[in-house]
Amino acid sequence: MAGVVVVGAQWGDEGKGKIVDWLCHRADVVVRFQGGHNAGHTLVVGNATYKLALLPSGVVQGKLSIIGNGVVVDPWALAHEIDKIEAQGVPITPDKLVLSDQACLILPFHRDLDAAREAQAGAASIGTTKRGIGPAYEDKVGRRALRVADLADTDAIAWKIERLTAHHNALRKGLGLPEIDVAALMRELAAIAPRVLPFAQPAWRVLDTAFQQSKRVLFEGAQGVLLDIDHGTYPFVTSSNVVAGQAAAGAGVGPGKISYVLGLVKAYTTRVGGGPFPTELDDAVGKRLGEVGHEFGTNTGRPRRCGWFDAVLVRQSVALCGADGIALTKLDVLDGFDEIKICTGYKLGDRIIDYLPASVKDQAAVTPIYETLDGWKKTTRGARSSRDLPAKAIKYVRRIEELIGAPAALVSTSPEREDVILMRDPFKA
Ligand code: GDP
Ligand code: IMO
Ligand code: MG
Repeated sequence: MAGVVVVGAQWGDEGKGKIVDWLCHRADVVVRFQGGHNAGHTLVVGNATYKLALLPSGVVQGKLSIIGNGVVVDPWALAHEIDKIEAQGVPITPDKLVLSDQACLILPFHRDLDAAREAQAGAASIGTTKRGIGPAYEDKVGRRALRVADLADTDAIAWKIERLTAHHNALRKGLGLPEIDVAALMRELAAIAPRVLPFAQPAWRVLDTAFQQSKRVLFEGAQGVLLDIDHGTYPFVTSSNVVAGQAAAGAGVGPGKISYVLGLVKAYTTRVGGGPFPTELDDAVGKRLGEVGHEFGTNTGRPRRCGWFDAVLVRQSVALCGADGIALTKLDVLDGFDEIKICTGYKLGDRIIDYLPASVKDQAAVTPIYETLDGWKKTTRGARSSRDLPAKAIKYVRRIEELIGAPAALVSTSPEREDVILMRDPFKA
């Protein structure tokens, strides 16, 4: 039995899409378990680049791909993404894509609310993707949401729609937005239903059967632990649990099905959106990381903030997820630096601490304590064996392993699918 969870250990965009695609060779099923189309996962295969938001990265290799109950699904965005990926020559059929019939829906007024609140917050805004993620999860927890299964008979759930729109109309009034046109919404839902319902199934049963047949399952996380609703830099976070434990709840499997947790770790740090970022570099080094690393949002195009590797944060993520190993990505972006810094602790006033404090005030106040390593003045780009890495690059990887308390299972050295160094196979651990 093998269930490998891939989870971002920083603020997202660690290269989860690339690594899930690479690990797919060894897996039979790929399942998303949280988040929604706020994610942007990039796969580069030869001349083709696939940008996925809601579809599990397994679709590109034709693996059975599941959108689990823990994901919030914008049915229009899903239909659009299916069309986009099919236009790139990847067929997406109900025998390859399963959409949990329990997943909650993102509706147009969730997007409105997300955007209106962000606009109202001004300088205190979170910098969300404005895809309606937060408002949709609020309705899920508030027990007002529509779910995929509801699309089968929208007339039968008129009472749910009435309750949900009444709630939103009260909010919209306060924000100066017009009332929801319920009749138009019902028509739109009836029109989109036939596009997504063919994929709808009890996803937990599909996974149960897969495990009974000893299939190998890859759980594809979105975002990163520092964006987790409980463990992240609250309130500058997303609205779901991102940690590895969520894989079980958000896919509908028991925690015993998880045999290995792989933390995805970028060789430096990035963040998109607002919120504290202790190692952020507002200088030529930060600019260089952003340029060499092409640090722009996969789907939103927003520039990502950049900084040195923060071992405090990643050590915390490793602990919170029980990571058995990490995939260290974008090592090549550090090629050619004279020196490279790693944050090993924080100063908070006159105290030295080795974790990210909970209060937003303290998170903003910590200053990094750095150690400096020699850069390697050679290229690592495209390396597929540790023999191809300069000694100083290996030293950097070893130091990270030591500081975070987890070994490197994989090292990625370019965006291209095959440019990975395998050190330990997560499916054989
Ligand atoms: P995700 O959200 O975690 O899937 O990551 P994104 O796809 O949003 O961002 C990662 C970016 O880095 C993408 O453009 C990838 O193609 C690229 N990438 C992934 N791994 C590597 C790597 O090892 N080296 C370089 N240079 N780029 C990489
Ligand atoms: P992947 O899966 C990076 C960030 C947003 C914002 C905060 C809340 O590609 O790593 P939301 O729209 O979720 O309410 O926004 O979370 N964010 C991400 N940052 N990568 C992501 O996904 C993200 N998904 C959300 O920028 O700061
Ligand atoms: Mg991304």
